[in-house]
Amino acid sequence: MAVLEQLTSQQAIDLENKYGAHNYHPLPVVLSRGEGVYVWDVEGKKYYDFLSAYSAVNQGHCHPKIVGAMVNQAKTLTLTSRAFYNDILGQYEKFATEYFGFEKLLPMNTGAEAVETALKICRKWAYEVKGIEENKAQIIVCENNFHGRTTTIISFSNDPVAREHFGPFTKGFIKIEYDNLQALQEALESNNNIAGFLVEPIQGEAGVYVPSEGYLAAAKKMCEENNVLFIADEVQTGIARTGELLAVDHENVKPDILILGKALSGGAYPVSAVLADDSVMNVIHPGNHGSTFGGNPVAAAVAIAALEVVKEEELAKNADRLGKIFRKELSVFAETNNLVNLVRGKGLLNAIVINDTEDSETAWNICMKLRDNGLLAKPTHGNIIRFAPPLVMNEEQLYDCISIIKKTITEYKK
Ligand SMILES: Cc1ncc(COP(=O)(O)O)c(C=O)c1O
Repeated sequence: MAVLEQLTSQQAIDLENKYGAHNYHPLPVVLSRGEGVYVWDVEGKKYYDFLSAYSAVNQGHCHPKIVGAMVNQAKTLTLTSRAFYNDILGQYEKFATEYFGFEKLLPMNTGAEAVETALKICRKWAYEVKGIEENKAQIIVCENNFHGRTTTIISFSNDPVAREHFGPFTKGFIKIEYDNLQALQEALESNNNIAGFLVEPIQGEAGVYVPSEGYLAAAKKMCEENNVLFIADEVQTGIARTGELLAVDHENVKPDILILGKALSGGAYPVSAVLADDSVMNVIHPGNHGSTFGGNPVAAAVAIAALEVVKEEELAKNADRLGKIFRKELSVFAETNNLVNLVRGKGLLNAIVINDTEDSETAWNICMKLRDNGLLAKPTHGNIIRFAPPLVMNEEQLYDCISIIKKTITEYKK
């Protein structure tokens, strides 16, 4: 069999099932092409992508500027490792630090790696700058968080599926309720070894939980008062997704450590980064941390192009405008349809909560019908469906998608 044979959907699914580890439960659709807000399956059927690879493809599929930068750089120099300098990493670091308003950047590849990096920087800062006794540092995290799937990160997850039989776990984390300032205050005051507070500005995986207005600004202030680093995981919420460049921008918060991934490359390539000012980042010295691929020339070229697209095409403004239309239309719909309990979100990161039990199949079955009607979305945590299209969507396309969603849910009821 030729390696790149043209397959039917069923053949592709059978191959993955037989030869791939079963670590995902994909919706049965096999995609072979993407452009802008659309993807096509191997049989040629066209769909709206309403997931954007979990908010990685914010700039749209195969954006010509991003692909162009990637191809150009791939033909010139792909990887040097950090054993040597390359002529583009420094330019990218200058560009991205100025773009986000930080003094330094540490390049990695995936979101989980960037979270790990932030945790290491935070601990080192705690011992060397704050003066916490060795091995005593504690980092506050939130219940129902999602920060990735490494051993340390699942150590402070409360998803049993992510944790079961993967212990022993990493110590040094205190878990508090999300969106609860009193719980944060109590944790900050519980002992003198608190190094940081790691938080998602909106909990995406948990079901697009938007915290109360003022939560992030107040949490940041509490951290400052206690000399604790405020670490924002914007892997999913960052890069224009919520209607501002960063979700913390809605409350004018500057994190001490910013974690980015996914849309930093527009979904073209695995690129992640941690940003901080010198007072924090300068605790890192040669040998403390790194990655063969982190900061490689292709990643650097792709990230510059991807960030330029966000500004040139005013994607934050578009996400804000379309998000308001989406929530308004679906909220009105929810009032007359008893299958949809509520609609929530910010910008183009939204979710509907289905009126059924947590363990019901209803959200999954609705996603299957959406697929049949030409729109791809996925349930997150049981009965919640996340809606996160590429931010290059236009108003006409959005209204088309809204009518597909309404029609599908209305017919499902029958
Ligand atoms: C908030 C957040 N942090 C970290 C990650 C992990 O990113 P990756 O899957 O690239 O490791 C994700 C992935 O969904 C995420 O949503």
